[in-house]
Amino acid sequence: MTAKAGRSANGGVGVFRTAVVPAAGLGTRFLPVTKTVPKELLPVVDTPGIELVATEAADSGAERLVIVTSPGKDGVVAHFVEDLVLEGTLAARGKMEALEKVRRAPGLLDVSAVIQEEPLGLGHAVAQAEAVLDDDEDAIAVLLPDDLVLPSGVLDVMSRVRRKRGGSVLCAIDVPKEQVSAYGVFDVEVLPDAVNPNVLRVNGMVEKPALADAPSTYAAAGRYLLDRAIFDALRRIEPGAGGELQLTDAIALLIAEGHPVHVVVHRGSRHDLGNPGGYLRAAVDFALEREEYGPALREWLQHRLGPDWDPQLTTYD
Ligand code: G1P
Repeated sequence: MTAKAGRSANGGVGVFRTAVVPAAGLGTRFLPVTKTVPKELLPVVDTPGIELVATEAADSGAERLVIVTSPGKDGVVAHFVEDLVLEGTLAARGKMEALEKVRRAPGLLDVSAVIQEEPLGLGHAVAQAEAVLDDDEDAIAVLLPDDLVLPSGVLDVMSRVRRKRGGSVLCAIDVPKEQVSAYGVFDVEVLPDAVNPNVLRVNGMVEKPALADAPSTYAAAGRYLLDRAIFDALRRIEPGAGGELQLTDAIALLIAEGHPVHVVVHRGSRHDLGNPGGYLRAAVDFALEREEYGPALREWLQHRLGPDWDPQLTTYD
């Protein structure tokens, strides 16, 4: 296991070993494809979103990925299992680039699954991971696979904040006012001794508030570094927004009891893979960066969006 650990370039190692990825949702915003294909396996160009998130976790020092899945969604875990037959065939045919691609996910970190039997909410999903933690793990990372936070590296900053200030550390993005009701929203305070102005103290957190009740425009962006105390808090919360057991409510409970919580405000970009509109933007964004697809896609997009585009004319080249 240790052979795969210690990849963090920026000092994430040591703060957490396990990254939890909740992937038990029905993907209702993505029907009909999610009838048979788990949302987390939809490709961003050619790579499932969950592999991108697993790569981010491994790069920040995670040794183990615990995927919380629902009954029948185990194809998500299969993506991280070695396929020796496929690898052998590709090797025999000299397809070394393809071989490297299929070896990537199984080589990242140790992956295991826990089953969430009923869809009772994100808090309930995260709670399922406690059973597989080692006794000496005092913090976990949680990465929501709908969220791509770019450039990656925010977990490293969050690890440094936990080392300095203790407690739990979350990632925030500053969203437009009219979007706050889609997120967990932070009540924040500037730290008098902050060296990094993007590190803020959190005094409260509320899940999907009405605009009038939102304490700020700083929203949770799907990256959490949580003290093990979260599991005790998760046992004590009641159903909240949407009738679900909310991770936000467990964090709010910890804050109310004096547990230190901070956010790192991420100023880069972020994609929401959880709905077709956000997913398409991510796919185009990633494809434009790829040598083999970028130039032709850019040219086509410029033509498609330009004044000469005529939907009646069909071209075959
Ligand atoms: C979840 C969390 C929310 C967070 C959001 C980020 O909500 O409950 O606090 O801001 O992810 O994407 P969901 O999008 O699953 O409704």
